Amino acid sequence: MTTSYDVLKLVHLLGVVLLLGNVTVTAIWKLYADATQDPAIIAFAQRLVTLTDWFFTFWGIVLLVVGGYGAAWAAGMDVLRDGWLVWAEVMFALAGAIWLFMLVPIQVRQARMARSFAAGQPIPAAYRRLGRFWIAGGLVATLPLLAATWIMIAKPG
Ligand code: HEM
Repeated sequence: MTTSYDVLKLVHLLGVVLLLGNVTVTAIWKLYADATQDPAIIAFAQRLVTLTDWFFTFWGIVLLVVGGYGAAWAAGMDVLRDGWLVWAEVMFALAGAIWLFMLVPIQVRQARMARSFAAGQPIPAAYRRLGRFWIAGGLVATLPLLAATWIMIAKPG
């Protein structure tokens, strides 16, 4: 296989590592931050959820897509016909839709609330309810990503 293929596959895998790494690690430190009940800590953690999404999730997605489609192109694969590629794309789109239409709107609302309770207001009950939805949605969104990882490795079909 060509060198450009290897470089693009490396870029793809760096993206996978950033993306999966950030979604799993963020859930843990956010849970622990929320459990402190301390508005300053919770508000700081909420701000980092937004920041790490920009640093890691966003760039993870960019590297994954550029490297993945680039490697497929370099190897002459058909991204609309090769079954394992198509299924990975479907899983990726599914995870992306959950993230974009459920998790990001929750984060935006929580970030807004966190700004007010960091300034001294009480933590609203809605913040905790949204937090539970966010963790549940995050877990559900991780499943298609794990499925895509398996599909990419096993290449069924
Ligand atoms: C969105 C569209 C995607 C495209 C076009 C794509 C494309 C590719 C290509 C061309 C390879 C190299 C396969 C080989 O060397 O035989 C690859 C490998 C891999 N991809 Fe993807 N991929 C996509 C999504 C994903 C996703 C969402 C994940 C996981 C979250 C993922 C994880 C992996 C892994 C772990 C490998 C290494 C597997 C191996 O070489 O045995 N990919 N991908």
